[in-house]
Amino acid sequence: MNKEMWFICVVFSTSLATSINVSKFPKDFMFGTSTASYQIEGAWNEDGKGENIWDKVTHRVPSPVIDNSTGDIACDSYHKYKEDVAMLKYLGVTHYRFSLSWSRILPTGFNNKINSLGIAYYKNLIKELRANNIEPLVTIFHWDTPQPLENLGGWTNELITDRYADYAKVVFENFGDHVKYWLTFNEPKQTCNGGYGNMQRAPLVDSPGIGEYLCTHNVLKAHAKAWHLYDKQFRTTQKGKVGITMDTVWLEPDTNSSKDVDASERGQQFVHGWYARPLTLGDYPEIMKKVIAERSTLQGFSQSRLPQFTKDEITYLKGTLDYLGLNYYTTFMVRDSNDEKIDDISYEADANINAYQKEEWPKSTTPWLRVVPWGLRKILNWIKITYGDIPILITENGVSDDGSSTEDDTRVDYYQQHLSSLKDAMDDGVNVFGFTAWSLMDNYEWLQGYSEHFGLYRVDFSSSNRTRTPKKSAKYLKNVIQYRCVLGNSTCDK
Ligand code: NOJ
Repeated sequence: MNKEMWFICVVFSTSLATSINVSKFPKDFMFGTSTASYQIEGAWNEDGKGENIWDKVTHRVPSPVIDNSTGDIACDSYHKYKEDVAMLKYLGVTHYRFSLSWSRILPTGFNNKINSLGIAYYKNLIKELRANNIEPLVTIFHWDTPQPLENLGGWTNELITDRYADYAKVVFENFGDHVKYWLTFNEPKQTCNGGYGNMQRAPLVDSPGIGEYLCTHNVLKAHAKAWHLYDKQFRTTQKGKVGITMDTVWLEPDTNSSKDVDASERGQQFVHGWYARPLTLGDYPEIMKKVIAERSTLQGFSQSRLPQFTKDEITYLKGTLDYLGLNYYTTFMVRDSNDEKIDDISYEADANINAYQKEEWPKSTTPWLRVVPWGLRKILNWIKITYGDIPILITENGVSDDGSSTEDDTRVDYYQQHLSSLKDAMDDGVNVFGFTAWSLMDNYEWLQGYSEHFGLYRVDFSSSNRTRTPKKSAKYLKNVIQYRCVLGNSTCDK
């Protein structure tokens, strides 16, 4: 099939299902791809890097990882970053979102020892990007807490908030002259709920209903410290912006009944309000404070399991977002749950919603990820209505498959439909200024190891060279970027 025929087929097949928005993205819209240090770098113990919680957890015997694999080598980007940049160049992206490994920069987690080789690695990467006209978009922390800090309780110990600020200072000092967009945290809900609540992420600490709330409290404080530090000491000279990235889902009420509608709103507050509200308005959502306090009393606790911010802390947190990063993959239907589950001490029982996905929604190889493009438009509008006209960057969006073919039509369709839904939201008036696709290449998918493939490039993990091959989706995205048009050609309206 020639290129034109292929586009006609893609457009025709998807337009049957949904109507595709064919208006152009603005000229200054940022397009890029996304990765994270532990998922791509490898070199886990090279050149002075310290151990982090993912090194620790993936080296456990027996392994908690589905295929017993580790990120010890991953995509070997520590050695192959120039190839990564060449791939980005081919795609024509304006930005590349990657994360820094705290333990590569500060091997002990503390700032007593700065690893010059770790600093050099990121300086070289940034230099290579800039030489190719690609702007770095840097996530300071993407889940890989230094193990020495975890030994002290990790994110449940307030000590880490100052240590994070120390780390952020080293980062701003060393890279800030060449970085305009910072993200303090990636998906803190995963770090906290997954890491200390439901055992889905390192450090796999089993403390549901308590650990995730302590963790979030400290993550929010650490974020605010980094934002104020940047604001006071670096903003005038470095002229960058500091945001945070949240994981989002849209929660669609199952029926119009007020119970289901309330359950949807409560769910949104537990998922998004937990982070977005303190950083925009200063404190946790009222519904979280009320529900968790009431349930804590009924469960025999002398105080709420949700920690409280002081008045000063509320003032300190409020407005510490220059922009908001959002990762969107999927949507759930929600019903009210009649069962209060008072004996269940967990975040999930506190939120108490009954979520499911419709059978008719297309599946991926990730159990929770069904394809629901319209949810992106809905969550973007909800964020704007709830938190005001904050500038938004879509920092992740993508779909997994089994990696067997580089003819990844499912991924092409996924991107086309989601970019169209994103454009719908922008036309609704939501202030979205960029989109970075997850992911540049197949990589280490945490406890799912190498079993789920999200890449625009295929990576051959059986070859020591970790050979990268562009998939059909890479060619599609390249055309989208070139024409600023979801059809991937020049036919979009102005
Ligand atoms: C979000 C996370 O930030 C990223 O690390 C992960 O690989 C993707 N979701 C896909 O699950």
